[in-house]
Amino acid sequence: MKEQLQHIAAEISGLSPVDGLRYFVEQFPGKVIFSTSFGWEDQVITDMIFSNDLPIRVFTLETGRLFPETYYVWNRTLERYKKPIYSYHPQVDSLQKMVSTKGPNSFYESVENRKECCYIRKIEPLKRALEGYQCWITGIRSEQSPNRHELSNIEWDEGNQLLKFHPIFDWTLDEVKAYVKENNIVYNPLHDKGFPSVGCAPCTRAVQPGEDFRAGRWWWEDQSKKECGLHAS
Ligand code: ADX
Ligand code: SF4
Repeated sequence: MKEQLQHIAAEISGLSPVDGLRYFVEQFPGKVIFSTSFGWEDQVITDMIFSNDLPIRVFTLETGRLFPETYYVWNRTLERYKKPIYSYHPQVDSLQKMVSTKGPNSFYESVENRKECCYIRKIEPLKRALEGYQCWITGIRSEQSPNRHELSNIEWDEGNQLLKFHPIFDWTLDEVKAYVKENNIVYNPLHDKGFPSVGCAPCTRAVQPGEDFRAGRWWWEDQSKKECGLHAS
């Protein structure tokens, strides 16, 4: 599949996000999966998948530390589309061990502790979720960070051995907002309160106008360390 990357990139070039999704569904039947964090980019893609009845499995990583607003969006989304959103949880043994020995907020103490928490709450469950799938859909957009600017809408994920497709990679935030408005999509109220990106509650804060999109994630750490490893390249 890795070898097919250039060919696929050429085939999907110029397709709308929905047609792009259809392409992967046809090429990899039953093997396409979408991860949602219930941010507005993800809500747009969820709407595209569910409204068009695309056979793509939708899942979320329930870290146990999400914002109440995120749980609200999750519930409203289930009510609206009446389709399952599969929830993946941390392995109970490793979670219990970490919290018992280091407490519930160990991530503020060191980058190492933070990565351990992200591994237990997100990365390991992600690996379980992706197992057996060939194409992973995400809501990543190019303008979200300098790192992401260097990606493209289709990539090979060496760690997880599958293709990654970001259907709205080139969309601006205004395009996302316009889709949300036109289609009356439920979205996280935190987006209107200075949260362009919403992760776990203890690790996300609002950003000031003009600040980087991701400035509110793990704000106490160095800029260079600010990816949780979900999208390690
Ligand atoms: S992260 O790497 O910083 O955590 P970000 O919040 O920008 O990711 O989201 C980028 C994409 O990663 C989302 O569009 C979604 O596909 C996926 N993602 C992030 N967090 C989660 C989560 N908790 N559950 C499922 N998918 C997620
Ligand atoms: Fe843990 Fe924070 Fe990572 Fe969430 S974002 S998994 S709470 S370190």
